[in-house]
Amino acid sequence: MCIVYLAAFLFSLTSEQCSSKLIEDSSQSFMERMHSGKTSFIYFGNHVNPTIKLFVEQLVMSADALQDYGISVVKVNCSKDAIANYCTGEKLMTRAYLFRGSEVLRSFDIDTVFDVNAIVSHVLFSVLFNEVRYVHTPAELLRVESTAKQNSDIVVGHIPVLGLPEHRALMEAAFVYGTKYQFVQTTGTLVLKHMGVVDPSSSQARLWFLHCKGVSRRSDPCPSTPMRKTLNTINIHTFLQLMEAPLVTESVLDPSEVDVVHMHLGVPVLYLFSQPQTQHLDRATAQTLALQLRGEVGVVLIHRDSPNVKAALKYNAAYRLPQEDVTYFTLNSAEGVVKLFKEELLQEHKLEDEEEDEEHWSDLDILDDEVSESVYRDRDLMLDLESVIELTSDTFQTTVTQNEITVVLFYFKWDAVCMAFIQSYIEVADALEGMNGVKLAAVNCGEWTDICSDQNVTSFPTVLIYRPMAEAQLYRGMLGTKCLHGFILLSLVSSPYLLSSSAEVMSFLEGDLYSKHMYLTPVRVLGLFSSTHDMGVTPFEEAARLLRGETILGLFAHKEAEQWVEGLSVNLPALLVSRGPGVPHEVYSLPSSSPTDLVSLIKQVELDRFPELTVENLPWYLELGKPLLLLFIGKEDSTESTKALAEIKRPLSSGQLDSFLPCWIHLGRTPVGRSILEKYLGFVPPLPVLVMSRLKTGEEVFLFPPERPLMAKNILQWIHDVQSGHEQPAVPGISHRLPLPCQSWHKVF
Ligand SMILES: *[C@@H]1O[C@H](CO)[C@@H](O)[C@H](O)[C@H]1NC(C)=O
Ligand SMILES: *[C@@H]1O[C@H](CO)[C@@H](O)[C@H](O)[C@H]1NC(C)=O
Repeated sequence: MCIVYLAAFLFSLTSEQCSSKLIEDSSQSFMERMHSGKTSFIYFGNHVNPTIKLFVEQLVMSADALQDYGISVVKVNCSKDAIANYCTGEKLMTRAYLFRGSEVLRSFDIDTVFDVNAIVSHVLFSVLFNEVRYVHTPAELLRVESTAKQNSDIVVGHIPVLGLPEHRALMEAAFVYGTKYQFVQTTGTLVLKHMGVVDPSSSQARLWFLHCKGVSRRSDPCPSTPMRKTLNTINIHTFLQLMEAPLVTESVLDPSEVDVVHMHLGVPVLYLFSQPQTQHLDRATAQTLALQLRGEVGVVLIHRDSPNVKAALKYNAAYRLPQEDVTYFTLNSAEGVVKLFKEELLQEHKLEDEEEDEEHWSDLDILDDEVSESVYRDRDLMLDLESVIELTSDTFQTTVTQNEITVVLFYFKWDAVCMAFIQSYIEVADALEGMNGVKLAAVNCGEWTDICSDQNVTSFPTVLIYRPMAEAQLYRGMLGTKCLHGFILLSLVSSPYLLSSSAEVMSFLEGDLYSKHMYLTPVRVLGLFSSTHDMGVTPFEEAARLLRGETILGLFAHKEAEQWVEGLSVNLPALLVSRGPGVPHEVYSLPSSSPTDLVSLIKQVELDRFPELTVENLPWYLELGKPLLLLFIGKEDSTESTKALAEIKRPLSSGQLDSFLPCWIHLGRTPVGRSILEKYLGFVPPLPVLVMSRLKTGEEVFLFPPERPLMAKNILQWIHDVQSGHEQPAVPGISHRLPLPCQSWHKVF
């Protein structure tokens, strides 16, 4: 996954596209595909006009999304490979086909599959043809119900306009839950009237759950519950979980102690107190109310005679809104309660919820297009976490205070990035298995919403590091096995490391202390103070704590510290940076500032002035926000490469390149560099090559003229020419629009 990050990042610098999952077939590969039996969505094109150009862009995005469902998206260019039957006729260019092997399941006018949502929803609907029933009239719906009775529950989606995000959300849900429920799609208004919708002309998408499985007699109708929220992925998922929850939960605990799934799903709970004498009646009331409030409010019947129940006798009911305390009240009639919820409590909450949902949806919307095997792989929603402890509301607090370090992943099962990351997370847990003081845990935020909101987790996936008596630390690194593993190992190093003699300082700087961490980072940063009473020591220690896992920091507060800056232009307090054994140390003066300012200062001095870019270190360098002066060198360490490196280094010391980030990529160690170069230039020229990518203007890339010798003075002249507008960008006029997958990686970062 690290690789994807680097690629996405560098591509986004030039607003180029991520490497796409869209396949281009030749006659040969098309023939092979026809024999493979696989499902493919294929567009046969020819020339490109503006409409087709837009369509192809959407095709690229849908290729990523449909990959999750095992469906390939393919383009055939008929002007290169004229495939019989499909590359001729007037329909050419305006139709796309869904194949299973050589059989056409369906063909679509490209006006129908106009964007990524439309492509995904239509293709999934066709693929799920036998699983999702399409009904047009109430009679057809009743036939589906009759087959399902005592067998399975039904999810009915009314989709007034096909191909919009609501349609896609329903189809994706059908893909995930299709083996559990019978899915039904309807478009007309006939079924709406049958379902009791007052204004069937409204163009809102809707969803109902028909409880057919539990009907006791086949002649009984299936009771139905409408979903009252906007039809999107997260709401459907929550709603289906609510439908699985028991209608009424009975308890002998005090309301504040009852734990029902509704609370974790952000839904209010109503508590009714029952007396032994009126138990039957109370149960019936609870049932009636629960039926009316199903999907919106959870109902709990509490046996008042239990000694655990502390409520004052004058109350016979209570409710609890998400994130709030229990409120007691006196119930006079069932209608009164329904009215209370529908007209007051839910109204307020609905508004809030809707706002929240919208936000959440926009995240999901982007991430849904993300590359991942997730939804497909986890169709049955089972995760095998083994070495990772799954936390619940009951176990969370105790677990995170028990270990020296508890790493907690907050995830959401419907989020493609989370599901892809979980694999890496498990690998890290396996690698650390048995190590003292470290434990990896996970919280499913779909189920334990309350924990996640208490911990202020709003984006997924999030990794927090907990230590006893300390604030949780956010893991800001990349979502890959190697990165997280390194971070955790470094987190175990005490920070700052307190040094007590010049000999220890030496062994710290040369990497003898923590030598087994050398492969994680050769860099050592040392704070030098003349005494432990220096005002700067405390903020430095705090900064060191904030940087645990990222940097190895030492502290030498001693009168001997003076020796380390002797003869240099810097006074104490100072920062000393060592980049590994044998590399000259760098010294910086240390201003008195807040811990967070110190953190950015330390991060900055830690960065190499002419770094080799790797997948791991890239984010820290990009944070500098400078234009890149990027040298690509080939696999072999040729003399040309060595010379080119030296030539760029020369103007560094005189500060002439300060407005840039001079850096290099070794294609042997970082193979993704080759594709980056291809994306930058459209081809891979003989190496080494130097390019400049200007972040400010976003999309321009300049290539140092290959015919000119790569020498310091030529490089400076070239930079001057670029800045004064005398050089042409290497790839003029590439699309400025970032494709969604890039943006989402960017965002996750
Ligand atoms: C097909 O190839 C031609 C020539 O290479 C190109 O101009 C055209 O844009 C391509 N068409 C599509 C749909 O990619
Ligand atoms: C969550 O944020 C609130 C408000 O910013 C803060 O008071 C609280 O301590 C935070 N909780 C955690 C666990 O960080």
